[in-house]
Amino acid sequence: MRLKDDQDLFPATLGKVKIERTSSMLNRQFYRCFASTSTMFLWALFLIALTASYISIQSLVLSSKNILTDKWGGIKWEKQVRNSASIQKQRGGFSVLVTGSAGFVGSHVSLALKKRGDGVVGLDNFNNYYDPSLKRARQSLLNKNGIFVVDGDINDDRLLSKLVDIVAFSHVMHLAAQAGVRYAMENPSSYVHSNIAGLVTLLEVCKSANPQPSIVWASSSSVYGLNENVPFSESDRTDKPASLYAATKKAGEEITHTYNHIYGLSITGLRFFTVYGPWGRPDMAYFSFTRNILQGKPITVYRGKNRVDLARDFTYIDDIVKGCLGSLDTSGKSTGSGGKKRGPALYRIFNLGNTSPVTVPTLVSILERHLKVKAKKNIIEMPGNGDVPFTHANISLATSDFGYKPTTDLQTGLKKFVKWYLSYYGYNGRIVD
Ligand SMILES: *[C@@H]1O[C@H](CO)[C@@H](O)[C@H](O)[C@H]1NC(C)=O
Repeated sequence: MRLKDDQDLFPATLGKVKIERTSSMLNRQFYRCFASTSTMFLWALFLIALTASYISIQSLVLSSKNILTDKWGGIKWEKQVRNSASIQKQRGGFSVLVTGSAGFVGSHVSLALKKRGDGVVGLDNFNNYYDPSLKRARQSLLNKNGIFVVDGDINDDRLLSKLVDIVAFSHVMHLAAQAGVRYAMENPSSYVHSNIAGLVTLLEVCKSANPQPSIVWASSSSVYGLNENVPFSESDRTDKPASLYAATKKAGEEITHTYNHIYGLSITGLRFFTVYGPWGRPDMAYFSFTRNILQGKPITVYRGKNRVDLARDFTYIDDIVKGCLGSLDTSGKSTGSGGKKRGPALYRIFNLGNTSPVTVPTLVSILERHLKVKAKKNIIEMPGNGDVPFTHANISLATSDFGYKPTTDLQTGLKKFVKWYLSYYGYNGRIVD
């Protein structure tokens, strides 16, 4: 009102009016500015409130997701982990985290460790690469023997960190992997996910753990690829993999080497040669042959170039278990702590084979004898799908380092496998294709 009066009273005085106008504009601007500041303030408050509620809702969702989908965590769970890890030996026992413990080799190694008094905690994601009910059956066998199997993934670093927080594992027996040579053409990313990303996640947690565990892990004889030096020795070149599976295992050998070099983790890589036996993997030839022969279905037998039979250095599970335990016993300690290396640690690679390759037709005839059924054979030339013509292990390194000496031949081992198969599936087979 006053401003208006002034303007009316002194209309001719340009300067004054200008001054008055300017001050009125300043006032208005100040007012507008104040108004917009308070609006901004309100907006900011609103956004903060929105963000806060978003975060709390999200953490609610996450924690409920954790409860709903993560099958780990909680006081009861932690107690189960601790109990399972407790060492029953008087002195010098290990507490071992076994990844892939509901798998073929993993379940056998877990049982053997427990039997001799070591503490064992299992870890498995129970994926459906093959019939998960077989993995569940192995799990209940472990449960009966006092081994708790954590339901989780090696890519879950929160879970792995939690486990090494709860238990000071002396060793990690890392057997979790995406296996199978031919399946790598169907689902390549699964191999990268488990055998590379999962491995790195595990190594990251192990290198930061205090104490650092010593690591024994499953590489593969497939790293020899198209190698033609016979028998395959650890010092042979392994830069010609024939499958993505082999390539991811070879990558694992290189990756573990860097963790040994930088952080002082003790690493032992085991190149398994065609492991077979009771509780085996249904995707392997001896297993699916057995199923098909019993069901009267034809089996496909691959043959190499120039009608040469494929041959494998089949290794019985009990011999592999002895090799795994021997490796654990001689792996020494990791030298680092808190992610820092304090000195050199062991880095080893061993073949674990049987040293006597058997052709696939011979494998079939042994199965026919044990099953008392003639196989319907479909013999076709091997397609280029990742299989190699033959494998043959030189095991002298493992023999000199920890007395590894396989004692079960294919005839004897398959007899035990068939006995188990019939007791588990029955003659008609419970597997539905
Ligand atoms: C087996 O491997 C060892 C090294 O571990 C080597 O000294 C030996 O010559 C190899 N044997 C054969 C037959 O290649």
